[in-house]
Amino acid sequence: MVTKLPLAEAAWEIGPQVVADRRYLHQHPELGFQEENTARFVAEKLRSFGIETRTGVAKTGVVGLLRGDRPGKTVLLRADMDALPIEELNDVPYKSGTPGVMHACGHDSHTAMLLGVARLLAERKDEIKGTVKFVFQPSEEVPPGGAKPMIEEGVLEDPRVDAAFGVHIGQDLPVGTIGVCAGPTNAASDGFIATIKGVGGHAARPHGCVDPIVVAAQCIGALQTLVSREVNPLRQAVITVGSLHAGTVSNIIPEEAIMKATVRTFDEEVRQNLAERIPALITGIAAAMRAEAEVQYRFGYPALVNDPAMTDLVRAVAREVVGPDKVVEREPGMGGEDMSYFLQRVPGCFFRIGSRNYERGLIHGHHHPRFDIDDEGALPVGVAAVAAVALRFLNGEA
Ligand code: NI
Repeated sequence: MVTKLPLAEAAWEIGPQVVADRRYLHQHPELGFQEENTARFVAEKLRSFGIETRTGVAKTGVVGLLRGDRPGKTVLLRADMDALPIEELNDVPYKSGTPGVMHACGHDSHTAMLLGVARLLAERKDEIKGTVKFVFQPSEEVPPGGAKPMIEEGVLEDPRVDAAFGVHIGQDLPVGTIGVCAGPTNAASDGFIATIKGVGGHAARPHGCVDPIVVAAQCIGALQTLVSREVNPLRQAVITVGSLHAGTVSNIIPEEAIMKATVRTFDEEVRQNLAERIPALITGIAAAMRAEAEVQYRFGYPALVNDPAMTDLVRAVAREVVGPDKVVEREPGMGGEDMSYFLQRVPGCFFRIGSRNYERGLIHGHHHPRFDIDDEGALPVGVAAVAAVALRFLNGEA
């Protein structure tokens, strides 16, 4: 039998293949729930590694199951596969071949890295105590997202998942680093549309009208008091009315005003309270001012919360993979991420693989038409880290 390379070395050894996979996917981007070619590519690769593979989970999702030689726990490793409706402006050989669609968030690299992890772990079946579930999910970018329907189709069962891990490539971090954050990491991203109905008429005769603009103004001011007076100051919340539309000209009081807002929170209790209080406040103020209001409240992804013990495991592995000085403690951000659905149900950790490279001009942020990453430097780091985290979780050496 051939002696196997240590995991980190093996990750660098297969680096060129992981990079080639990422560039193939980059050239063939697909939007959420349309990842047909990507799913086929993923399934073919998994099967070639000898991994039991199921396709068509939540439409275009793929699940691979690798049973180790010894029984034990089950770990779920997740990658998202969807691209964005952006026209790529990079001039690279692997530029998107689909007009108006681009892997501008790096999900191509997530898929390629997880395929690399699958290959390394499949080669180490004899070392694995337990089962590894590889989850390639559709549509992270567009709520309600692909994670939720995959869970509804039973991806956390049979065998039951004990922990979940995933990574996001990060242009906010230099290549060669790994970013970790314990606890709440990404905010819940909810929002609402409020329609305030008044009675229109002549602007010089307000007493014959019900002015929805003045009602909206009262509502907007009062909404901020929910954050300042009803949310525990030690827990964060943001309410931003990002859009307010009413009226046409200065001498007409319009019939209605429409407000659109986003609500970001980390704490589930704060989130639920605001979802109740915001419509109550708006309809109450409207009624007090003789208007009527209708509030459509929309829940987006829940907050992503990393388990402290699982984050410790990731941190320990990251120190070994890139060295202690290259492990970055990240601050939480208010952006949404549907990995949160998995981490709501099982403990785990979602962490970041640095990919920015100033020297090579790979500096553009996520969702930018010139987004590109140092894949050669970043992907082997991600493969090594995720594979080692999975092995260490299963084999109980944390
Ligand atoms: Ni993303």
